[in-house]
Amino acid sequence: MSVTDRLRAEFTAWCRDTLFTPEVREATRLVNRYCDLQLTDVYRELGMAEHLQTPKTAQQLAAEYGFVDTASITVRDALRRLGERTGLVHVEGPPLSATYAHAKASTDPTAELAQIRVALGALGEDYTAATDFIDFGRANFIRSLKDEPDFMDKLLSGRMSDFAELWHRATNVDPLQDLHGAMGARVIDGLLERGTILEIGGGTGNGARHLFRHLAAEGKLDKVEKFIFTDISMRFVLASKHEFTKAYPTVSWGWQFFDLNKPFGEQKVEPASVDLIYAVNAAHVAMNIVDFLKGCHEALRPGGHVVFAERVRVNQYEMAPRELTLNLSIYHRSAPEHASYRPMHCYLAPKNWHEAIGLAGFSRCDVLPDLEGLAPEFPDQYAAVVVGTK
Ligand SMILES: C[S@@+](CC[C@H](N)C(=O)[O-])C[C@H]1O[C@@H](n2cnc3c(N)ncnc32)[C@H](O)[C@@H]1O
Repeated sequence: MSVTDRLRAEFTAWCRDTLFTPEVREATRLVNRYCDLQLTDVYRELGMAEHLQTPKTAQQLAAEYGFVDTASITVRDALRRLGERTGLVHVEGPPLSATYAHAKASTDPTAELAQIRVALGALGEDYTAATDFIDFGRANFIRSLKDEPDFMDKLLSGRMSDFAELWHRATNVDPLQDLHGAMGARVIDGLLERGTILEIGGGTGNGARHLFRHLAAEGKLDKVEKFIFTDISMRFVLASKHEFTKAYPTVSWGWQFFDLNKPFGEQKVEPASVDLIYAVNAAHVAMNIVDFLKGCHEALRPGGHVVFAERVRVNQYEMAPRELTLNLSIYHRSAPEHASYRPMHCYLAPKNWHEAIGLAGFSRCDVLPDLEGLAPEFPDQYAAVVVGTK
């Protein structure tokens, strides 16, 4: 089955009426503002107003601070965001190779940051997971770009048990992140008659948790003939194994290491062996997105799907609030740029997904919900499900 007009319309209506609650929309707005304020704080701490008395590129500025090479990407995105959203900086030139000049004085953001934390807490305690994650990036900003460049990579790949709770909250507890898995589950239910699912980058389990909760509630667990949960972190795989085999003992499970940057055949995934490849906020970590998609295409049976619940760049050059922290990871900021379908690192825009999925040989690409249709009601939307059909 492919994405029908009916599935698209029903899914869009469900997002609008049920998933994107007033709290979700307000929290998204607040988190965006919070990021702007924390970036302002970085701007102040680094004395950027002084450094940008004459216009500079992000590379020049990063070099002045003694930051590691790819840190210019972090600096570039932060300054562009500040320019567009606060007017602190004047941005001149194309978005990815602009020069920046100090434009207006900033005020101390401390009081407003505190107000936003309170406002988010009033929407629900879990929403503060988003600001905690941004705060963590803010607190480790300079350290990660200068003194300990792999610090954030260790956190994101589960190699630092001290921060496991922070990462779990950031990916699963934060309702703004948690909704990605809810979206993926609903689309899978609409697409899959019955078959084997391979999940890639399953991590702390957001995708599987929503999918099985949804299917169990609908009495449809038997749709899943086998579920193969994978991640590059065996710590994550084993923790999920513990949780899910207990919660769903009747499901036929597979648990394995899988690196999406390596050929599928080398990793015990045979051609035409699965019906659906699922990933929640993981497909964008591929270094070469088209090669990864070609691997998915080969592993799928005819008519099979990739279903990627993703953060998307609704505006091609936008920096997501959580990238204040993620852009401190070498891996995140290095997933290659400069392809027509990937002008910026990591997250793709909907039109980029269409192009990449087409290049990988899929017969069809759909991005749900109808983002344009929802834009007037939810201008800050950021979540979509990308479906490629073989
Ligand atoms: C943003 S997390 C999403 C995790 C999970 N799907 C969720 O939503 O809770 C990205 C996941 O991709 C995994 N990952 C990172 N690099 C990977 C790679 N090269 N191959 C496979 N998985 C990778 C990470 O370990 C992490 O679990």
